[in-house]
Parts: sequence; C-alpha cells; structure tokens
Amino acid sequence: MSDCTQFPAWKELRDHKRDMAKIQMRFLFAEDPKRFKRFSMDAVGILLDYSKNRITNTTMRLLTQIALDAELPNAIEAMFGGEKINRTEGRAVLHTALRNQSGNPVLVDGEDVMPLVRGVLARMRAFTDAVRSGEWLGHTGKRITDIVNIGIGGSDLGPVMVTQALTYYAQAGLKAHFVSNVDPSQMMETLAVVNPETTLFIVASKTFSTPETLLNAQAARRWLVKQLGTEKAVAKHFVAVSTNTKKVQAFGIDTANMFEFWDWVGGRYSIWSAVGLPVALMIGMDNFEELQAGGYAMDEHFRSAPLEKNMPVIMALLGIWHNDFWNADSHAVFPYDQYLGRFPAYLQQLDMESNGKSVTFDGKQVHCQTGPIIWGEPGCNGQHAFFQLVHQGTRLVPADFLVAVESHHPVEHQHEVLLSNCFAQTKALMRGKTRDEARVELIRAGMTGDSLEALLPHKVFPGNRPSSTLLYRKLTPRTLGSLIALYEHKVFVQGVIWNINSFDQWGVELGKQLAGAIESGLLSDERVTEHDSSTNGLMNACKRMRAS
Ligand code: F6P
Repeated sequence: MSDCTQFPAWKELRDHKRDMAKIQMRFLFAEDPKRFKRFSMDAVGILLDYSKNRITNTTMRLLTQIALDAELPNAIEAMFGGEKINRTEGRAVLHTALRNQSGNPVLVDGEDVMPLVRGVLARMRAFTDAVRSGEWLGHTGKRITDIVNIGIGGSDLGPVMVTQALTYYAQAGLKAHFVSNVDPSQMMETLAVVNPETTLFIVASKTFSTPETLLNAQAARRWLVKQLGTEKAVAKHFVAVSTNTKKVQAFGIDTANMFEFWDWVGGRYSIWSAVGLPVALMIGMDNFEELQAGGYAMDEHFRSAPLEKNMPVIMALLGIWHNDFWNADSHAVFPYDQYLGRFPAYLQQLDMESNGKSVTFDGKQVHCQTGPIIWGEPGCNGQHAFFQLVHQGTRLVPADFLVAVESHHPVEHQHEVLLSNCFAQTKALMRGKTRDEARVELIRAGMTGDSLEALLPHKVFPGNRPSSTLLYRKLTPRTLGSLIALYEHKVFVQGVIWNINSFDQWGVELGKQLAGAIESGLLSDERVTEHDSSTNGLMNACKRMRAS
C-alpha cells in the first residue's frame, strides 16, 4: 500500500489542474458536441452524466491511472473474496454477500456464509409474511398495525431512508416509526400515537450495547408491560436484530424472536441484512429481495466493468479530483425525488463514518484530504434555500443530482417541472452567466447608466461549477438497491486510493467514553470540578438551572 500523492499520475494531475483552471466548461461543451456522449454512461438502468465536470480525456486518464496505481482491481477482489480488509478490527467486509445472487459460495475463514445468509432471509420471509397477513397477532389477539424500529446510526438510517423511499410499495394498514435518539421526546411522542396491542417493536443493534438504543428499548418495554399488564406480552411485541445473541437474551428477548447478522457486516452497510426487517415488513419480502437484486446488479457491474467505464469508480475519481485537487470541502447530494428525502443523511454516515479518517492503514498521517463533508436536501426545495451559495458563493460545491424520468404519481405536468428544474440547475451551474450576458439582459429589461452598472456584478454567475446527474426510470426497489450499492462502492474506491480503512469508526469512541463520566457527574448532587472549566461550568449551570 502506498501514498497516493507520490504516484506519478497524482503529480501530473497537479500540473493538469493548473491548466484546467484556465478553462471554462462552457467552452469545452462548445468545442465538443460529443461531450455528453464522451462523459456519460449507463449501467443497470442508471444513466450517469458526468460531462458537467471540469474534466477532459486527460483528466480521466490520469485519474484512472491513480486507481490502477492504488491496485484497485486487487482491492475489489479482496473485498468480494472475503479477505479481512477491515484490518484494524480484523474483519472481512461482506455486505455484498447479503445480496449475492450468484449461487457461488462466499468464504469467511474457509466457511461458506451463504447458507447463513439464506437462512436468515428465509426467517425474515416467514416472519414478515406472518405479520403482514395477520397471522402473527399481538398478545391480546390483535393484528399488528404499527412497527417501531429502535436503533441508531446504521441500525436506523438505512431502515428510515429505504422505508421512506419505498413508501409507494408499502402495505396499507401498516405504519413504520423510527426511534433513534436518546432524547426521550422521540420515544414518548411515538408511544403517544401507537396502540400497545397492535405495535411491534424491533430492537436493532449490531452490538446490542449501544446505550441510546438499549435505554429506548427498555423504555418501550416498560411501557408495553405496563399497558398490557404482563411480561408475557413481550414475546409477541418485541423482536431483535443483532450479531450478539447473549446480549439479546440478557435483555429479555427470546432468541426465537432474534434475527441474526454477522461481524463482517458493517453497521452502515447493514440495510441488506436483517437490519432491513422494518423495510421488509412494510414492502414485503419480494420487494426487499428486489432491493437486494439491484445491489447485486451494481456489484456485478463494479466487479466486471473496466475502470474507465465503471460507474462507482468514475464517481469516486471525480470526488478525488474535486476534493484533492480543487480543494472542495464538501460534496452535495440533491435528490430531485421527494422519496429520497433521507438519502443525503444516509450517505452522510456511509461516507463520513467510512472515509473521515486521517491516518493510513499503516498508521501514518495522510498527505491529502480524505472524505468530504456530505450534505444535501431534495430539490426543488434546496433551490429556495441554499442554492444561492452553490451558484454565487465563494466555495466550490460539487454536487450529484438524482432524478427519476417517471413519477409514481403522474399529476398534470408536475413531474416535468421537477425534471426541468433539475436539468436547469446543472446547466446554470455549468454555464453561469457572463458579465456581457447579464448586461444584455439588463438593457433588455430597460436599465441603463449607473443603476445598470451598480446591479451588474450581482447578476453575474461565475458558472464552471461541477455536477453529475444520475437519471433512472422510476424509483423502484431495484433502482434504489443499485443506487445504494453505487455509493457504497464509490466510498470504497476512494478509501482504497487514500489508503485508509473505510470500515472502522474509532473516531466515535472518545465522545462515548467521556459521556459516561459526565453522566455520573450530572446525576450526583456534588459541584463538578474534575473537568475543564467549560465542561465544569456547563454541568454546574445545569444543576443550578434545574434547582431554580
Ligand atoms: O457510534 C457509531 C456506531 O457504532 C455506528 O457505526 C453504528 O451504525 C451505530 O453506532 C449503531 O451501532 P449498533 O448497531 O451496534 O447499535
């Protein structure tokens, strides 16, 4: 493994960037009528248009060379082959096995994990069918109407995002709720709207030791037992999703009601596992398997397509280009698809928990920027909120635009308005508006003289702002599966090039450790003195305010 900044292509890219800084994309489009054809591609029903980026053939050739120098093809095979590429935790990384439809074995430590995977999928099918058909009844004999998923991070964001994205496919009469925050308001507001007799709680935690989740699960359990008057009710109203059988038992959930997954599935990659149970309950197991099939289709593309025609690789390389050569601090994701409202939040964990690292595999400081800040909101809403900065602010914000060709809900020509806005934004970002163009517009609007000159600078758009567009026919379970896998692999490719471990998350530990000591200080009556003055001051202020 090596330092990517020392690759000859990296150095060439630095020089090339200086040349590219003199070129406006609008001229590249004017020069080359085939630019869209040259810089767009289709895979598994998704079209990626990356022509509106500051790239030429040379850029893409050099970026691809970086991927080759980082031995990306070997890294891809190592991941799919079950090697323990998560070296700091000594684990394989095999979320791809969860959606593997090849019929081939996938080995971890010499054992084929596919029978385990299929076994849990079969149990999920039996359980979700029973709940959806009304065969599984609550303790008092009533049908389940509400599902409350209790989990946080990867045990929440995937289920929330996918459930919302596939609402169109949800079973009528079933409602999903998600409680993640230890802030009791979320659980209390949820319990206020569900009926204990008809509610199923899913406690989802890979480790089954995450305090937020366990506290919420205990609160829900106390509530249920109180409402239904017996501990026995728990068996019909609580199921668990975890890798930790002992802790599930210790919590008091019968392992007959536990859906297992394994340590080779990272939390933020776990939507394909039993963590997807709330999704499968809402949309049915057939649709859940369609989601997996979409992920598998992207896996096959990623494994087999040459690097220069490989969608996750291209997106990863463009990200590296913006991040490491143009100093873009963030990467925006704008779904012009209301169903994908939580997709940016989902990608925040996927990308920032994976690639928010500053030491390489061998423990050395990295010499380049790693993962960007991921953010975004659905369009058109973003246009009326923060797009001003994206168009005319001082920062470079590379962005992905995602949009379906067809809506699930054709209403007049509203979907065409959505599409038009999406395409107009990427065009405006690319072209901008020159001083001359702005001047002509103002003259046409009847302005002249000093007032024209005063307004003119405000009407100029610098343009040359990069974006990529992902276009798909309709947001189906299969398409969504492919989109999620696309971003998973993009993040993986970037991690390989930066030579960082995309699959651990030690950076979340320190705050967790400190919270314990702070909690005991807050619970005691003593004045707090053992922390820094800010932390002491805040804790003592809490006590004062509480007492007043
Ligand atoms: O604190 C970060 C994290 O470990 C995430 O990686 C994970 O998705 C989340 O917490 C929840 O963990 P668990 O599923 O074990 O409760």
